[in-house]
Amino acid sequence: MNPPCYDLHTHVVPGVDDGPVTPGEALRIIEKMRNAMPKGSVVAATSHFSTNMAYLAAMSRADRSCRFAEKASDESLCVIPAGELLLGIRKSGVHELISYPGTHTVLVEFTHGLFWFSVLRRIVRLLKCGYRPLLAHAERYKWATANRLRLLAGMGAGVSMSMRSLAIPRYVENAEWIISSGMCHMVTSDCHNIRDMVLGDYARETVERLCPGGWRTLAEENPRILLEDGQLPPLGGAGRG
Ligand SMILES: [Fe+2]
Repeated sequence: MNPPCYDLHTHVVPGVDDGPVTPGEALRIIEKMRNAMPKGSVVAATSHFSTNMAYLAAMSRADRSCRFAEKASDESLCVIPAGELLLGIRKSGVHELISYPGTHTVLVEFTHGLFWFSVLRRIVRLLKCGYRPLLAHAERYKWATANRLRLLAGMGAGVSMSMRSLAIPRYVENAEWIISSGMCHMVTSDCHNIRDMVLGDYARETVERLCPGGWRTLAEENPRILLEDGQLPPLGGAGRG
């Protein structure tokens, strides 16, 4: 039997973002994950949040994630509450509500078209607050060259990619590059609905085709290190400047 794997980016909480609308849909996605992932695997429910949200609204959304995670978990699949933060420049405190449980790491995304120095400024501000970013779908940003991703990893950031990008034509090339070149610490599903890929056999085969031996690092070891609040390894790789 395969060891447990970790999917640290999913949209499975019903009625809060562009993920499932009804509780029934949400539970069907969870069931698909439970059937596809090895026993004991972990899924983080990372609904969308923004540093521009009202704090009370963020608290209420975080509370819904907690309740959903508790309800969806059993001995074969553990669902943990977290969030995906659209990182702006405003000091909001939202990151404290949605970091991965027991850690000081928060999944972050950026507005498309944001310039590199604006990205860097936002990340430095988060680091100064004592929180580490895990970059969501790094393959989607034009600024995310190999050198810049290495720089961010050296500052303490984690880099993740979304398997969902492999189904979006404009992202496929970069998604394959980021896995095959070793420029991400982990793969995630970023699953929004029942049709999206989850971290099962097909995802494993895809990762192994692009990066032989990579599944163990990208889906098992690195995400586990993150949830233990440990230090992720340096990024390797080459290409794309
Ligand atoms: Fe997402």
